Amino acid sequence: MSFYVTTPIYYVNAAPHLGHAYTTIAADVMARHHRQRGETVFFLTGTDEHGEPVADAAHALGVEPQELADRNAERFKALAPQLGVSNDFFIRTTDPQHEAVVQEVLSRVRENGFVYEGTYEGSYCPRCADFKAENEIADGNRCPIHHIELTREQEENYFFKLSAFQERLEALYAEREDFVAPRSRYNEALSFIRSGLRDVPLTRHKLTWGVQVPWDAEHVFYVWFDALLNYYSALSYAEGSDRTAELWPASYHLIGKDILRFHTIYWPALLMAAGIELPEHIFVHGFLLMDGEKMSKSLGNVLDPFAVIERFGADALRFYLMREVPFGQDGSVSTASFELRYESELANDLGNLASRSIGMVNRYRDGALSPGELDAGLQADFAGLRERVEGHIDRAELHLALEEIWQRVRGLNRYVEEQSPWVLAKDEARAQELDRVLRSLAEGIRVVTVLLWPYLPSSAERLLEALGASELALRSAELGAGSIAQVSAIESLFPKDL
Ligand code: ME8
Ligand code: MG
Repeated sequence: MSFYVTTPIYYVNAAPHLGHAYTTIAADVMARHHRQRGETVFFLTGTDEHGEPVADAAHALGVEPQELADRNAERFKALAPQLGVSNDFFIRTTDPQHEAVVQEVLSRVRENGFVYEGTYEGSYCPRCADFKAENEIADGNRCPIHHIELTREQEENYFFKLSAFQERLEALYAEREDFVAPRSRYNEALSFIRSGLRDVPLTRHKLTWGVQVPWDAEHVFYVWFDALLNYYSALSYAEGSDRTAELWPASYHLIGKDILRFHTIYWPALLMAAGIELPEHIFVHGFLLMDGEKMSKSLGNVLDPFAVIERFGADALRFYLMREVPFGQDGSVSTASFELRYESELANDLGNLASRSIGMVNRYRDGALSPGELDAGLQADFAGLRERVEGHIDRAELHLALEEIWQRVRGLNRYVEEQSPWVLAKDEARAQELDRVLRSLAEGIRVVTVLLWPYLPSSAERLLEALGASELALRSAELGAGSIAQVSAIESLFPKDL
């Protein structure tokens, strides 16, 4: 079994922000979970470096696009390890190997008869030397960057025959209802297809910052075609040898809803045109909102992930984002709700549970646990948990998997209160009962911790180490599948006085 998951490749026209961290963390949760299943996992993220967004930003700063790309690609690359993210490769679309694949695949699309020469007409900014899309034109007919009047101009382009794929795309959506999720996004894509597909420009003439069109040196490919192909090109060179046959098609492309059309329509059409197998699933998540508005670089209302990590650690940020916002929907984030979840869930529910449980085993039994039977009530509560978590992750319901696990964390807290080991410890006649309670508690904590590892990798590893049970394989996430003989002390996992 192989599992290949991707994030969008991010534009290097600005620095990374929480929105980018969000998708990357979600992909990491999926990648880690599938590694726990023992699958061959490949997890790709990276940067999108060509096209007008980058060229414009570079010109505004008075630097060459490559210089801006180099500078910001480093910052995106550095974000991954800071988030505890375990990507297998970081692709840059300026990698020469990627550019060669773009040229090869798009030449094939042309040989297959899906490219023709035409004229593109639109609103043009002479200072940008670029056409502006309708949605970029802010007030009146002015350039959003230079605020000068746009002119009506034409450009000779090569076009991609998207219209030729109308029926094939409708058939695809009819046959594979899980091609795009959630359902509302599937419906959105399908109704766009049904409304009629028009051909789209494949190349740009007046722009030079891009991958050269091999059959016409005066053109570069339109950035979206170059960018989408990263998912395919990376496999051919990421690890020295070509792993395409082993890993393609992708299992999951995770994207935000801002780039739905490119991924759910252009991308499958392009792959069909090139004769390449289609990905299995495209999952479209919502926007993180602050004060009700989409967080974005242009609005400047960004919660700085670096600052949050600095103070609370990457695990806390990962947990918060996966817990606070149902994956697939828009959701508001704020420092207030972050701090609330940190306190009540990470510090209290999980952190206290771990430290007081381990503390009691140390206090009453010198850290040693004897083998034996487990509490029947807990066993019933944990039955089928691993399978339910797997099912949710298979459908990218990352918040539901986490909720399943968290209900058991809360259950374990109730178990401690109900059993009151501190009462049992006072009565020699109840020593066996105490043994069973401590053993069941430790085992329950071990199981939830194995399941939480994708969300809280570094805290989970610390906790499992303290339990003397570092096995991470998912099959060990069953009550009774492991045995804890000896616990050691653990420092507070989520300190409150930060
Ligand atoms: O679109 N909430 O790059 P980009 C949630 N280069 N996710 C957010 C977000 C927010 N407020 N803001 C950004 C591009 N994202 C292209 C992609 S892929 C072949 C090319 C995340 O830098 C989300 O994943 O604008 C969104 O789709 C992506 O960043 C857009 O990143
Ligand atoms: Mg964007």
